[in-house]
Amino acid sequence: MKTKIISLNSHLEFLDAVAETIALLKQGEVIGLPTETVYGLGAHALDDVAVEKIFQLKGRPASNPIIVHVGDIQQARSLSAHWPKQAESLANRFWPGPLTLVVPASHHVPSVVTAGGTTVGIRLPAHPFMRAVCKALPVAAPSANKANCLSPTQSHHVVQAFDGLIPLVIDGGLSAVGIESTVVDVSVSPVKVLRPGMVHETQIRTCMEESKTSADILDTSSSNIDTLRSPGQFPVHYAPRAQLILVSWEHPEELFHCIEKRYEAMGILPCDVHVLAYRSIPDMSSWGRVSVLPFDPEAYARAIYAELHESDRLGAELIVVQTPPEEEAWTGIMDRLQRASRS
Ligand code: TXA
Ligand code: MG
Repeated sequence: MKTKIISLNSHLEFLDAVAETIALLKQGEVIGLPTETVYGLGAHALDDVAVEKIFQLKGRPASNPIIVHVGDIQQARSLSAHWPKQAESLANRFWPGPLTLVVPASHHVPSVVTAGGTTVGIRLPAHPFMRAVCKALPVAAPSANKANCLSPTQSHHVVQAFDGLIPLVIDGGLSAVGIESTVVDVSVSPVKVLRPGMVHETQIRTCMEESKTSADILDTSSSNIDTLRSPGQFPVHYAPRAQLILVSWEHPEELFHCIEKRYEAMGILPCDVHVLAYRSIPDMSSWGRVSVLPFDPEAYARAIYAELHESDRLGAELIVVQTPPEEEAWTGIMDRLQRASRS
């Protein structure tokens, strides 16, 4: 199969691409699609044979449910058996955007999507292309990477993983958010954050308070039980090929001492080490590559996966990431980096 790549350079190209995507999805094809968080590998959500293909392409365990993307809130309600008050408030506040709501699933939702469970994760994406497609049909889409690999934030990341395996990849530019959506389970009371992201717990709590729904959020930071409820939250996930470690340093010279033993034990040289820093930038000539990332959580999230992809492409053996600040705005980023560092 030849994989076609379509760019969205004019309004006409956009409309043609939307029509072609919808037609292919209706035929049961799986397509690489841009969203504002990361690129998705999408299929018609109500076509269980098509969704099954996603699992095969990714090498994803059947026990891991897939998010359904919708074009409006009404469509989200119609996919749920019960639409909790909290879902209504959070959807009104954060959709379209990087928030997935886990709600009781309607019987229309195929069990391959819910992984045989009673709930479904639903998101109304902000990317104009994905929104236009989802207005015509609900799209089941995990991130468009092979299982346990890095999520894609650019179309060529998708092509690299699935070239020749899917008929079409839509190039919708760089993903504006850059890490996967925040996942909140509103099928339980109190609600639970299953995966942190760029919509933060305080924003979620404030929204629920303002709408006078129960503002309790279960504290999941110390509990392991939740990994079973959101199987994508297994510790090893979103990892680059190279080993990744998180390191803190105040002065650039310290880095050498911090990691010398580590790379020596790995039998590699400083030129095999890539450093991702946001301040106290180490000397560029001491390491294989030194990338300067923005010291702003939104801009950092937008950039981080592309940097990790690039280090892998350039053959880094060890990626040293400067530990981000311990602040709420960085929680989603920290979660992804910690998972990547445990592989
Ligand atoms: O931003 C995103 O969420 C991206 C884009 C493409 O929308 N999608 C994404 O999908 O990250 P995926 O499959 O890579 O991660 C979805 C996460 C997984 O951890 C999965 O276990 C969890 O959401 N999830 C999905 N449906 C669920 C459900 N019904 N109950 C609990 N967790 C669910
Ligand atoms: Mg994923």
